[in-house]
Amino acid sequence: MNGIILFGKRFVPYIPHAELEQDIDRLARRMNADFAGGEDIPVLLCVLNGSILFTGELMKRLEFDMELMTIKLSSYQGTSSTGSIREITDISGDVSGRRVIIVEDIVDTGNTILYLRNKLIEEGASDIRICTMLLKPEVYHQDLKLDYVAREIPDKFVLGFGLDFNELGRNLKELYILDE
Ligand code: IMP
Repeated sequence: MNGIILFGKRFVPYIPHAELEQDIDRLARRMNADFAGGEDIPVLLCVLNGSILFTGELMKRLEFDMELMTIKLSSYQGTSSTGSIREITDISGDVSGRRVIIVEDIVDTGNTILYLRNKLIEEGASDIRICTMLLKPEVYHQDLKLDYVAREIPDKFVLGFGLDFNELGRNLKELYILDE
């Protein structure tokens, strides 16, 4: 089986790019139905770095006007969550009074999404929706509804399609999984 080795760990192909695209097609159709005809212009908040490819693929499929903003957060070290969120760069614009759609690459413990939701409330966002490419339901136990989930995966470390292992692997087109 063809795989790749990064920092001594082996990753094997898990989800082909075409399947990820189908997941995003489905998600975008739902979002288009929910946001079409709105009077305001919602903010699409890309959580860097991991969501960069997902946000690009999603945006190409969205048919309503939106404003792209970014924030850079970090919580993972190697293959596990540190539990504390570091804000590397702040939100790139003013969200007060705006509807915000958070775009995440993956929701694991949910600490990141909770932190961001609270920050957006403090900054006066009028409505907050959460959109994620991947969710690990076995680990996610927050009391916070995830509005748009493209795909659920088991509690295993994944890599590629924007997700990294110590900053490497983000450029892989398909999703890889740690071979344990
Ligand atoms: P949470 O705060 O535990 O929900 O973790 C969310 C963040 O951790 C994501 O935005 C990713 O940056 C990172 N993360 C969680 N699981 C993985 C994984 O399997 N591979 C790569 N990064 C991950």
